[in-house]
Amino acid sequence: MTSVSPDLTGEIALITGCAGLLGPVHADALIRCGTFVVVTDIDEERARETAHRLADEHGAHKVIGLRMDVTDHAGVSAVHRRVLDEHGCVGILVNNAAIDPKVDSEGGVREMSRFEHFPLAQWEEQIRVGLTGAFVCCQIFGTAMAAKGRGVIVNIASDLSVIGPDQRLYRRDGVADGEQPVKPVSYSVTKTGLVGLTRYLATYWADKGVRVNALSPGGVFAGQPPVFVDRLQQLIPMQRMAVPNEYVGAIQFLCSDASRYMTGQNLVIDGGRSVW
Ligand SMILES: NC(=O)c1ccc[n+]([C@@H]2O[C@H](COP(=O)([O-])OP(=O)(O)OC[C@H]3O[C@@H](n4cnc5c(N)ncnc54)[C@H](O)[C@@H]3O)[C@@H](O)[C@H]2O)c1
Repeated sequence: MTSVSPDLTGEIALITGCAGLLGPVHADALIRCGTFVVVTDIDEERARETAHRLADEHGAHKVIGLRMDVTDHAGVSAVHRRVLDEHGCVGILVNNAAIDPKVDSEGGVREMSRFEHFPLAQWEEQIRVGLTGAFVCCQIFGTAMAAKGRGVIVNIASDLSVIGPDQRLYRRDGVADGEQPVKPVSYSVTKTGLVGLTRYLATYWADKGVRVNALSPGGVFAGQPPVFVDRLQQLIPMQRMAVPNEYVGAIQFLCSDASRYMTGQNLVIDGGRSVW
């Protein structure tokens, strides 16, 4: 029997939006498999800080931090060339960048999250980062992978790629129905669109050795208000939110030969929320 293991020694991975909550955990997961990781984020300072923290733990030869705005085609191309010149070909791309606006009605403009009033500028910005940004990165890094005949792309979606948001989670006491804050439409559309991009590219590049899958995490606990957490836990069969390192195994699996016969799929890891 051929053994499969998440050994990624010698691979170069690039993660977008890698300076937030989950990016550094994904980076750590890949470095632990032997990968050299390019931490990228629109926030240059936090990208460098994240890379320094990872270098402190794993060694400076395992990671670099670079500014990269996924919506800037020329900027992404420049990062591609720089990494190619200085380190080699990116064989693993994790499209992780997104804008996930917190639903928080403190401060007055709560009704703006509602569909009827949702600003076109916010719709366009959030789709530009979460969906168009993934398109740009796939076009630049994925095309190079296809030319080389090997590569892996993981698009980070969400449980909201397979279910609609339960807007009761965000309800506020004393607020009229028509003014209750809601999860914005742009997030659901971005994440569902990423699954479409995943399927499209999986078949497009299947004969070029490039596998493309999506990972759909459920909500990660990060100090959200207790009332929100209580309501959400009731919608989850496992009765709790995730902790950040509960996607480590999935990232290692999807980025390695352990999933070598898998492409075009959406791996949903949500404590069972979407099956209830
Ligand atoms: N945290 C969760 O509970 C959860 C649940 C499901 C899915 N997800 C998804 O996982 C991914 C990571 O989530 P997170 O909680 O770490 O998010 P986060 O908001 O903490 O981090 C996102 C990062 O993206 C960066 N970014 C924003 N615009 C960018 C741009 N134009 N170019 C490059 N980078 C940009 C931000 O600077 C930030 O560092 C996102 O795609 C998110 O939708 C998160």
